[in-house]
Order: sequence, then structure tokens, then C-alpha cells
Amino acid sequence: MKIIRKVNDMITLSHELKNAHLQIGFVPTMGYLHEGHTTLMETSIRENEVTIVSIFINPLQFGPNEDFDQYPRDEKRDIDILKKHQVDYLFLPDVQEIYPSEPTVSMTVQNRTNVLCGKRRPGHFDGVVTVLSKLFHITKADFAYFGMKDAQQVAVIQGLVEDLNFPIQIRPVPTVRENDGLARSSRNIYLSNQERKQAPHLYRSLKLAEQLIIDGEINPVIIIEEVKKYLSLHTDGKLDYVELLSYPELKPIQTIGGQIIIALAVFFGKARLIDNIVIQVE
Ligand code: PAJ
Repeated sequence: MKIIRKVNDMITLSHELKNAHLQIGFVPTMGYLHEGHTTLMETSIRENEVTIVSIFINPLQFGPNEDFDQYPRDEKRDIDILKKHQVDYLFLPDVQEIYPSEPTVSMTVQNRTNVLCGKRRPGHFDGVVTVLSKLFHITKADFAYFGMKDAQQVAVIQGLVEDLNFPIQIRPVPTVRENDGLARSSRNIYLSNQERKQAPHLYRSLKLAEQLIIDGEINPVIIIEEVKKYLSLHTDGKLDYVELLSYPELKPIQTIGGQIIIALAVFFGKARLIDNIVIQVE
């Protein structure tokens, strides 16, 4: 595996790959890799001739009171994992490479962000679309892989690519979970033993919501209340939100129908865990 740290070197390389007519798959990450990330990589390797993974902890998408400084980092371990998975190229720039000077333009996401995590993390998705616009240009990828664990991120990026006509296709990949249902996350290491035991109830509360819908419940308010009740009964976590919306538009709905998302965020100590399910309802 080749490691590229400079933007110009990455641009030169992706230009060569394009000239050789190789199909490029791209997996952007912030490192501290786990099975969620490696599943994205495996999918890209299967579907493309060349796979580029990036590791870049993007300061622009962290709020002033968020965990940018504490965000877990382990470059050596990540490189070993990537080599083992036979990734072709790792793009590993530092902050100065990606943001060398004061910007002339800035990006603001107009839609799909006034709900869920976007509402709680002002400016977060502006930072995400900014860094991804740069990374899409730098890597010249044909396909980019994103986890449905961050379903709002997928919805926003799909909007970005459609609005600005990026010549790239977004490939959403299902959430990878532990055996007990907990969605894999770099932030799970923040959990105490007690919290780790309670954390699988997040997914169980979503499955409960799904079952209510299968059983014919069409009122979003009742479903949300049942999820909240389940969470307060089974966890000591502090609920941030439970929301039920259309997907990918992320608009409120009065009656269950079409494609919907049920998403939640819960604080366990300093860890904020998110999870969701997307369901197609006839
Ligand atoms: P990061 O949190 O490192 O996640 C990188 C990718 O891995 C994202 O697409 C995320 O949805 C996916 N992922 C994380 N946990 C997953 C799981 N349990 N199952 C499936 N996929 C999972 O998301 C980001 O980084 C950043 O916002 C980024 C897109 C790199 C832009 O900076």
C-alpha cells in the first residue's frame, strides 16, 4: 500500500489512474478504523479496480465544544489494518495540507440539516461537505462509500453531489454492528462497562419501532413515545433525540408511509451514540 501525504502528489496520482482508465473507489474516514470502516473498504475493493482510503480528522466539522482534540487517533494501527485489507492507496494529509490558507468561499448546507444531528451540531455538515468536495476533486473517484450508520450524512452528501453535479456516485453501505446489535463506532471506546452493557438497547428500541410499524401503527407520535419509554426503562443514558422523518428528504411526516428513518442519539457519559433504521413502508 502506498501512503500519500501531499495534496499535489495525490492529484498527480489520481490523474495517472484516470489516464489509465482505472475505476476508482474512495472511502473517506477519520481513522481509528473498525469493522464499519473495513466493510466500506471491502465493498470498494470488490467493486473497483483501485481503492483509495483517506484518513483526515476534519477540524471544520467539529463544534467548539466537541471532541476534536480528544478524537481517538492511532496511525500505526490504522496503517496495519489498511495493509491487511489490501487497500491500494492511503491519503493521509495533515490539516495544513487541506486548509493551507484562509478560504475565499464557504459552503452552507441549506436542507436536510435542521433536524437530527444537524440541529444539534450547527455547522457540522457545512464542514463535512467542504472537506468531501475537496477530497472528491483530489481523488477523482468514480464511486465513494459511506455508512448508513450516519444516514443524515449520506442524505446530505447525496444532495451535494446532485446539486453541484459531482461526477461521482455515492454508495451507501448498511450499518455494521456488534453481535449484540450495537452499531460500531470509534466513540464506543468512551463507554464504561455498565454503559457498554446498556448500549445495545438503542438498536433494540429501533427494532421495537419497526415492529410497531409492521403491526400497523401509522402514527409517528405514538412510535416515538414508545421508543422513548423503552430507552428510559432500559438505559441510564440521557436522550438527545428520537425522530421519525421521511428519507432521504428528512422532512416531518404526519402518517407513516414511503421510505422513512427512525433515528436517535443518546449520551452515555461523554459518549454520544447515534443509531437509526431506514424502512420502506408500502
Ligand atoms: P468516520 O466517522 O471515520 O466514518 C467514516 C465512514 O465510516 C462513514 O461513511 C461512516 O458512516 C462509516 N461508518 C462508521 N461506523 C460505521 C458502521 N458501524 N457501519 C457502517 N459504516 C460505518 O464520517 C466520517 O468519518 C466523516 O464525517 C467523513 C465522511 C470522513 C468526512 O470527514
